[in-house]
Amino acid sequence: MIRQASASDLDSIVNVHRICFPDSFSTAIGNIRGGALLRSYYETFMKTTPELFVVSDENEAINGFCMGYLCENAVSKEWQKANCIKIAFATLSLLFRGNKAAVAKIKSTIRKSKVNYFDKRYDVDPTKKIDLLSICVLPEKRGSGLAKDLIESYENIGKMMNREACVLTVRAENGRGIGFYEKNGYVVQKRTDDNISYIKVIK
Ligand SMILES: CC(C)(COP(=O)(O)OP(=O)(O)OC[C@H]1O[C@@H](n2cnc3c(N)ncnc32)[C@H](O)[C@@H]1OP(=O)(O)O)[C@@H](O)C(=O)NCCC(=O)NCCS
Repeated sequence: MIRQASASDLDSIVNVHRICFPDSFSTAIGNIRGGALLRSYYETFMKTTPELFVVSDENEAINGFCMGYLCENAVSKEWQKANCIKIAFATLSLLFRGNKAAVAKIKSTIRKSKVNYFDKRYDVDPTKKIDLLSICVLPEKRGSGLAKDLIESYENIGKMMNREACVLTVRAENGRGIGFYEKNGYVVQKRTDDNISYIKVIK
């Protein structure tokens, strides 16, 4: 069953994130202090736009989720500002331990990568867009159509909120993610060396 997430799902959501993004910076940071930062990250989005946080629930266990936010709300930036000291300490501690994801994150933040634009539709007005921040399903559920059901539920909620487009950014090295988005109607909007941004008109 696909349904809106609730606060009681947060621990399961963090666990699913850890399994689905094993080598990511967010997981590395989320593993510090028992996942407190990652939990607070998802909690912030859940509180800001609960409609755009959907989970797949099978026998009361979460096996995937899809979440995002309204583009005019700088939720991520505000969360980072509110947690900057914790994030800085966590990042430093990962760097001291030579964590590869933290090193890559710092390199990509410092590097000024050229942005190549392919599609400028909806580039200007954020109030017409939703941004899909994270979609994942447990490995045993991949290729089953569950991720498609999740993204379609998410897009339909966006439509009901009168949004005309859904955007997202994926790491350029994430072949399966890219294959999934392109199969589901997303087209490249812009790209850098590290990331590709996609758009799908949903109105
Ligand atoms: C991304 C994700 C949600 C997609 O769900 P899924 O069930 O695996 O997706 P599907 O199997 O329906 O679609 C993936 C498609 O990409 C294709 N694919 C796989 N590896 C690929 C690669 N390296 N390059 C291009 N396409 C690839 C698959 O063959 C499939 O297409 P097909 O159905 O025509 O064969 C899931 O893989 C996942 O949770 N991944 C980990 C988290 C993640 O990376 N999320 C996205 C970034 S936020």
